[in-house]
Amino acid sequence: MRSDQKKEGALHAKDDNPPRNDNRAGSPESVFDRYSWFYALCRERLFADHTEDIAGAVAPLLDRPPRPVLLEVGCGPGFYSSRLAQRFPQIDVVGIDPSARLLAHARRKARRNHLRNCRFLRARALQLVNFPNAADFIVASRLFLILANRRSALEAIYVSLKPSGLLFIAEPLSPLRAAVPLACMRILQVFAGAGNLGEEFAACNVLNRSQFADFVASQPWKHVRSWSDQRYQYALCEKAA
Ligand SMILES: C[S@@+](CC[C@H](N)C(=O)[O-])C[C@H]1O[C@@H](n2cnc3c(N)ncnc32)[C@H](O)[C@@H]1O
Repeated sequence: MRSDQKKEGALHAKDDNPPRNDNRAGSPESVFDRYSWFYALCRERLFADHTEDIAGAVAPLLDRPPRPVLLEVGCGPGFYSSRLAQRFPQIDVVGIDPSARLLAHARRKARRNHLRNCRFLRARALQLVNFPNAADFIVASRLFLILANRRSALEAIYVSLKPSGLLFIAEPLSPLRAAVPLACMRILQVFAGAGNLGEEFAACNVLNRSQFADFVASQPWKHVRSWSDQRYQYALCEKAA
């Protein structure tokens, strides 16, 4: 995506170089990119699966003409994008992420599942500010804990939601649990003899409940439903019509 593009209602990529690194996970190549295979494994086997919650929230939007667009920001290996595209053939799913390797993983998975309504673009959350009113539904799972400028990212997400669009957020509650995958990647890095990831390990920033509530409320939502379970906190945010 070029930063000078402002095309309402369309998400597409013109180049494959997302601008400056704005995550907390190192630069220039993030830990997610270096150990994409490990993160993809954790995503499939270890992390909680919120597909049912997301699908329930998407259901009321399914009849929107022409074809509803679901955007997954920081999609990583495309876990939710693929599942939701498979489940809802009547919607178009777009996953964005700065990690080329995680996107390659996501594309392979979508191909394996013969998904024709699912594509992946290399981009960062902040770039969404250039794509106003592009998505009916946005998923941001385990994203904000790794972003240095999460408020700006949320603002960009807000801009790219259509009027009456919905944003689903899932953020881990336990700093310890959230740090485990990064700690494992740190160990892998040490075994690979490529130095340590001290900065990256320290950079995972889990929001406590009140920080999460303040963060979500930083945008002028029409309505917010928040809830939590033992491991995650969630928000379903609706933009005004
Ligand atoms: C903790 S992972 C979450 C992946 C996936 N959403 C999930 O539920 O497992 C964070 C993801 O955000 C991506 N990411 C890092 N910086 C980003 C940015 N500025 N904008 C969007 N995604 C970013 C990383 O490459 C990684 O795939």
